[in-house]
Amino acid sequence: MLKAVILIGGPQKGTRFRPLSLELPKPLFPVAGFPIIYHHIEACSKLPDIQDVLLIGTYQPSDSLNRFITSAQREFKFNIRYLQEYTALGTAGGLYHFRDQILSGQPKGFLVFNGDVCCKFPLAELWDFHEKVSQDDHYTMLSTEATRDQSLSYGCLVENENTHEVMHYVEKPQTFVSTVINCGLYVFPPEIFQHIGKAFQQNQDEVLNGDPLFPSKDTIRLEQDILAPLASTGKLFTFKTNNFWSQIKSAGSAIFANRLYLSLYHETHPDRLSDPKSETGPSIRGDVYIHPTATVDPTATLGPNVTIAANVTIGAGVRVRESIVLEGATLQDHCCILHSIIGWNSMVGAWSRVEGTPNDPNPNLDHAKMDSGTLFNGDGKLNPSITILGTNVSIPPEVMVLNAILLPDKQISSSFKNQILL
Ligand code: GTP
Repeated sequence: MLKAVILIGGPQKGTRFRPLSLELPKPLFPVAGFPIIYHHIEACSKLPDIQDVLLIGTYQPSDSLNRFITSAQREFKFNIRYLQEYTALGTAGGLYHFRDQILSGQPKGFLVFNGDVCCKFPLAELWDFHEKVSQDDHYTMLSTEATRDQSLSYGCLVENENTHEVMHYVEKPQTFVSTVINCGLYVFPPEIFQHIGKAFQQNQDEVLNGDPLFPSKDTIRLEQDILAPLASTGKLFTFKTNNFWSQIKSAGSAIFANRLYLSLYHETHPDRLSDPKSETGPSIRGDVYIHPTATVDPTATLGPNVTIAANVTIGAGVRVRESIVLEGATLQDHCCILHSIIGWNSMVGAWSRVEGTPNDPNPNLDHAKMDSGTLFNGDGKLNPSITILGTNVSIPPEVMVLNAILLPDKQISSSFKNQILL
């Protein structure tokens, strides 16, 4: 029996995803029509031995989380449960806190996913590699290539190319270590808890023996505290993938992840993609997902890389590309939406134009990743990025909104660019 754990973080994480994460926990944000972590769970469903998927985080249980779990539970044949940490315990601290739940039923191993990545998860190959790479207790992490410059923003590892053992691991190094980076997906046997237990004990000793005025940390980080010390001990191995992989940190990276998952549907779920040859529906360019409850005028043109959520209404002559339109939004006749996220129940008036600037990976560089970047440049100006309309925003007819972020419930009366409207 196998289990899977998805680390979903909590409200104190996902800050670069605001204002969208104000409405909904970031792991539930819909990408290509389904919540980010639905894609993880769907990938798990392809492994026949999976019996239990545990979501670990610090979010308060909420309607949205409960609804998600109930509906995923109904769709997939294994258990799906949410376990709430009393405080953010770190990427390994949460695992350790819930070790009894993870080990119940005596799984031979378990997968651990970072909840904020998108990937064509090669789970069967990863598991197969893990089983064959060594006969002793050992741990496996998925890795991929990045560019030399971008590697510094990730966990970097050096592998022995013959044995695939990880010889050196540094999280976000100051200087170049390797272009091979950690994807945030691991296979662990139960023995991993001996290592996390030692780190836990060390923390406790520091708490007891330290200065009470300067309390020591009580979080345990999987990457720095557990995996880095395991490098070159003969216990840590890596399986490298060339499949697509990206972190989902900023809203711009959600647009990129949307594109990646839509392209994956050609292989996994062609039925989710709109038919570009349909004679009755709107004009479809490239990959487009339209929820069955959306109403789209046949004279609209959608795509490439567009997701239209449930109960969206799209009027005549509307043009949408490289965008996500969230549940209940209305796009009035002839408006144009480019590189944007249109929030829940927002409205864009007729003939208006809502446009953002994509922050896509450099297409001329092999293995380039999405730069999560900062919101502001050195002069305190908003960096051009995708446009985001928070929930319930109203854009009047015949205006232009460019490179802007509008917080929930805003109504503007004229054109607006390069600003955040609080
Ligand atoms: P940043 O660039 O600072 O975001 O670092 P990172 O990309 O290395 O991410 P981080 O290690 O902080 O998080 C990896 C995954 O673990 C994300 O999906 C987080 O939501 C999740 N995570 C981070 N800290 C915690 C925690 O304390 N508890 C739980 N359950 N999950 C966490």
